[in-house]
Amino acid sequence: MPSRPEPPPGPAALRPRLPSPLQEVADDRFGRHGVGLLLKRDDLIHPELIGNKWRKLAPNLRAAHGRTVLTFGGAYSNHLRATAAAGRLLGLPTVGVVRGQELADRPLNASLARCAADGMRLHFVDRSTYRRKSEPETLAAVLRAADAEGAYVVPEGGSNAEAVRGCRALGTELRGRADVAAVACGTGGTLAGLAAGLGPGQRALGVPVLKGGFLGADIRALQQRAFDGPRGAWSLDERFHFGGYARTGPELDAFAEDFEQRHGLPVERLYVAKLLYALVTLAAEGVLPRGSTVAAVVTGRPFP
Ligand SMILES: Cc1ncc(COP(=O)(O)O)c(C=O)c1O
Repeated sequence: MPSRPEPPPGPAALRPRLPSPLQEVADDRFGRHGVGLLLKRDDLIHPELIGNKWRKLAPNLRAAHGRTVLTFGGAYSNHLRATAAAGRLLGLPTVGVVRGQELADRPLNASLARCAADGMRLHFVDRSTYRRKSEPETLAAVLRAADAEGAYVVPEGGSNAEAVRGCRALGTELRGRADVAAVACGTGGTLAGLAAGLGPGQRALGVPVLKGGFLGADIRALQQRAFDGPRGAWSLDERFHFGGYARTGPELDAFAEDFEQRHGLPVERLYVAKLLYALVTLAAEGVLPRGSTVAAVVTGRPFP
């Protein structure tokens, strides 16, 4: 009898460090207000599938069953890099649909070059097509143009129902360990899962890095798709986007450098720095109550 082909290795073969470490840090900006600070080191889960990327991608890689994985991102997307790395590590073909047709004629930046080196096939689309990528006809046309019909499609930022359910484990790992679990938000998928996994009396706090005020509705929709209804206690503080996605500025840079020196934590600037800055402010404002403990989820690491 012919032997069956070996199934491709699942993400568990990559030996993630789970549960991720939870570190207590002494920081007087919290201590003087009677607030305890913990760092949930999701950045240590895997050297290449870092932070929320592991939690969101692993269930999708399993669901892909060895098919080509196609996903979307901007020119500096952490998600595209993580998907490309997963493809190389697991022997899965990957296609990255990149926002900006104009980039096709320029040398690849360091982030896209890393994707390509990891074997990801890059397909550039104009911004208007990119905006409409979740409309079925546009998606079908993109798949055809990318020669990737039949691929397993993961949305931008990786936040589909599988990913949100994957992030629930982040909450369960924090059960009984903190009063508030705080995370920086892009699409809100990580927060949607985190909130669902927390225990009674705990709440999740999201710090959106994009300007816009639309995220609350997106998170409710993500929970609806992943769990058929709302889960857990969560709220957003929309004051800390620093002008929008990828905007930083000297104050945030100085804050992040100082945090790195105080605690020896490499601080990713686009998400994690904004989260930590928000938490220092909230401690000073008394919004984090005296006697409480907040766990800051370290969802990423700076890309060199
Ligand atoms: C480092 C980092 N932190 C946080 C997030 C936000 O995650 P989400 O899109 O699930 O809100 C992202 C985006 O994927 C990210 O790259």
